[in-house]
Amino acid sequence: MKTSNISLLSFFFFFVFFTALATSDSTNNKPFLDCLNTHSEPSQPIPKALYFPTNSSYSSVLQFYIRNLRFNDSTTPKPLFILTAMHVSHIQAAILCAKSHGLEMRIRSGGHDFEGVSYVSNSPFFVLDMFNLRAINVTIEDETAWIQTGATLGEVYYRVSEKSKIHVFPGGTCPSVGVGGIVGGGGFGNMVRKHGMTVDSIIDAILVDVNGRVLDRASMGEDLFWAITGGGASSFGVVVAYKTRLVRVPNPVAFAVIQISNMQNNIDIVYKFLRIVDKLDNDLFIKLALDVPKTGDQKTVRGTFLILFLGDSEKLLSLMKKNFPELGLKKGDCADISWVDSLLRWTNFPIGTPTTVLLSRIHPATACLKRKSDLLKNPISKKGLDLIFKKMIELETPVLKFFPYGGVMNTISSSAKPFPHRAGNIALVEIATNWNEPGAEAANYYMNLTNEFYEFMSPFVSESREAYLDYRDFNLGVNNHGPDSYVQGASYGYKYFKNNFDKLVEIKSKVDPDNFFRNEQSIPVSPLISSS
Ligand SMILES: Cc1cc2nc3c(=O)[nH]c(=O)nc-3n(C[C@H](O)[C@H](O)[C@H](O)COP(=O)(O)OP(=O)(O)OC[C@H]3O[C@@H](n4cnc5c(N)ncnc54)[C@H](O)[C@@H]3O)c2cc1C
Ligand SMILES: *[C@@H]1O[C@H](CO)[C@@H](O)[C@H](O)[C@H]1NC(C)=O
Ligand SMILES: *[C@@H]1O[C@H](CO)[C@@H](O)[C@H](O)[C@H]1NC(C)=O
Ligand SMILES: *[C@@H]1O[C@H](CO)[C@@H](O)[C@H](O)[C@H]1NC(C)=O
Ligand SMILES: *[C@@H]1O[C@H](CO)[C@@H](O)[C@H](O)[C@H]1NC(C)=O
Repeated sequence: MKTSNISLLSFFFFFVFFTALATSDSTNNKPFLDCLNTHSEPSQPIPKALYFPTNSSYSSVLQFYIRNLRFNDSTTPKPLFILTAMHVSHIQAAILCAKSHGLEMRIRSGGHDFEGVSYVSNSPFFVLDMFNLRAINVTIEDETAWIQTGATLGEVYYRVSEKSKIHVFPGGTCPSVGVGGIVGGGGFGNMVRKHGMTVDSIIDAILVDVNGRVLDRASMGEDLFWAITGGGASSFGVVVAYKTRLVRVPNPVAFAVIQISNMQNNIDIVYKFLRIVDKLDNDLFIKLALDVPKTGDQKTVRGTFLILFLGDSEKLLSLMKKNFPELGLKKGDCADISWVDSLLRWTNFPIGTPTTVLLSRIHPATACLKRKSDLLKNPISKKGLDLIFKKMIELETPVLKFFPYGGVMNTISSSAKPFPHRAGNIALVEIATNWNEPGAEAANYYMNLTNEFYEFMSPFVSESREAYLDYRDFNLGVNNHGPDSYVQGASYGYKYFKNNFDKLVEIKSKVDPDNFFRNEQSIPVSPLISSS
C-alpha cells in the first residue's frame, strides 16, 4: 500500500547529508549550523536546541513523542537532527536554512499523527519539535486563551480549569494530543453537537510562513487563516500559537457509561441509537464503541456507550427515558462532576485520579495503531447491523466507533472551514486497530484486517468514502510531489476536504508556490503553477 518512491536524486542527497550530518558530529555540518546561527537571535543560542544522532539523548528525544509504536522501529527512517525550538527565531532559521540546504522539514507538536507524518519521511529530513513552545495564557474576562502549539490538550484543560470551572477549550478527548496537530486538522470532542469543531472557536493565530515572516490573522489574511484552521496547517507554515474562544459549560456536568456485552442480542439498541443520536438535545453526546473482547471462547460484540450531558443527571435521566429508554440508563450509572473530571472518566482514568495528571507529559505509547474514518449518512438496517457484527466477530481486532453529529454541525456551512463534514451526517465513523506485536509482518496482517473491514463497510457509509484529516490514512493516497502531484493530492484531498480542496490548492499556490511545506498528504500546488 505504501508508495514511497525515493527518487535517485533524493537518494543521492540522503547519502550526502546522512554522511555529513548523521555519522559525525556537528563540526562536519558547519555551513548548515552557520546558517542556523546567522538566522536566529544571538540571545537565543540555537545549538542548545539541536540533537544530532551523535548527541546521547537524540533517541530519547525522538521517541518521547512517538505515539504510534508502528513507527518506533529500527527500519523507520530517522531525522538527520531534531530542532527543539525554544524561540520563534529558531523556527524562522529552520525554515530559511532548510530551504537553502534542500532539506525537508517535519513539524511535530504532540506526535499523534496516525501515519507518523510529523517525524517520519523517506526524503532527507529533520524534525522541528514544538514541545518547548507550550505557553497557555487564559483570560477569563474576555473568555479567550492564547495557546502555543506545543501544548497538549490536557495542559490546556488543566490551565483553563485552574481559572474557571465553567469554561472549557472545545478540543478532543485525549489529553496527550498536541494542540498543533488537532487544531490544524479540525478537532472534535464530546461537545461537537453543542459547540462545533475546535476550529470553529479559533479566532487568531501566529504563523511563521515560508519566508520566515511572523504573521497574525490580520497580516496573513483571511484565506490563509482559514487554511490553517482545518486544512492541515503543515501544508502552509509553522503555527506558533492559536487564540481560541472558550466555551461555557455548567458545573457539574453529567457523565455516564453503559456497557452491553452481547450486542448481537441487542441489535434494536444500536438500530435505535443510529436513528436518534444526531437529533437529541444539543447538550447530549453519546459515543458508541463496538469491539470484540478477547476473553473466553465465546466471541461477542460488546457495546460501550459513553455519555456526556451538559446539565445535571436528573435532566439527563428524563431525556434518556423519553428518547432512548432501550439503553436503560439508571441514576446509579450517572455521576455529576466537573467537566475536567468527566474528561478523566471519559479517557478511562480510575475514579479519584487528580486532575494534575493532565499536566503529565509521560504517556508511553502502548500499541501500534491504524485508523480509518468515514461518515455515516443514513441509519443502518437491522440486517446490515447483523452482517457487521458477524464480520466483526470474524475479524476480531478492528473496533468500530460512532461519534454523533447533528446539533450545531447542521447549521455551520460546509465551507466555513476546510473541514467540510457538517449537515447531512449522522456520525463520524472510526475504524480502529491496535496491536502489540512488533514488526512489518504483524503490521501487514493487522492493517489488512482493518482495510478488509473498511471495504466491508462500504454499503453502509458515505458513497465517496469521505474522511477526517486528523484520522490520517495513507490508504486514501499519498503524494510523491512529482509531476502528478496535483492528481495524487486530489485522491486524498477531496475525501478530506470535499470541494474545499480547490480553495486550499489556490491558497497553497499563493503562499508556498515552491511547495516547501510538504508531506505525503499535504495540499499540492496548482498544476498551472507547478508546470510553469
Ligand atoms: C490517542 C489518540 C486520540 C485522539 N483523539 C482525538 C480526538 O478526540 N479528537 C480529534 O479530533 N482527534 C483525535 N486524535 C487525532 C489527532 O487529533 C491527530 O492525530 C492530530 O493531528 C494530533 O496532533 P499532534 O500535535 O499530537 O500530532 P503531530 O503528529 O505532532 O502532528 C500532526 C500533524 O500536524 C502537523 N503539525 C503539528 N504541529 C504543527 C504546527 N505547530 N504547525 C503546523 N503543523 C503542525 C504535523 O506536521 C502533522 O502533519 C487522536 C489521536 C490519537 C493518537
Ligand atoms: C549536541 O551536540 C552538539 C555538538 O556535536 C552540541 O553543539 C549541541 O549543543 C548538543 N545538543 C545538546 C542539546 O546538548
Ligand atoms: C521504542 O524503541 C526503543 C528502541 O528499540 C525502545 O528502547 C523503546 O522502549 C521503545 N518505546 C516504547 C514505548 O516501546
Ligand atoms: C503569554 O503572556 C506572556 C506575558 O504576558 C507573554 O509574554 C507571552 O507572549 C504570552 N504567550 C502567548 C502564547 O500569547
Ligand atoms: C492481505 O489480504 C490479501 C487479500 O485481501 C491476502 O491475499 C494477503 O495474504 C493478506 N496479507 C496478510 C499479511 O494477511
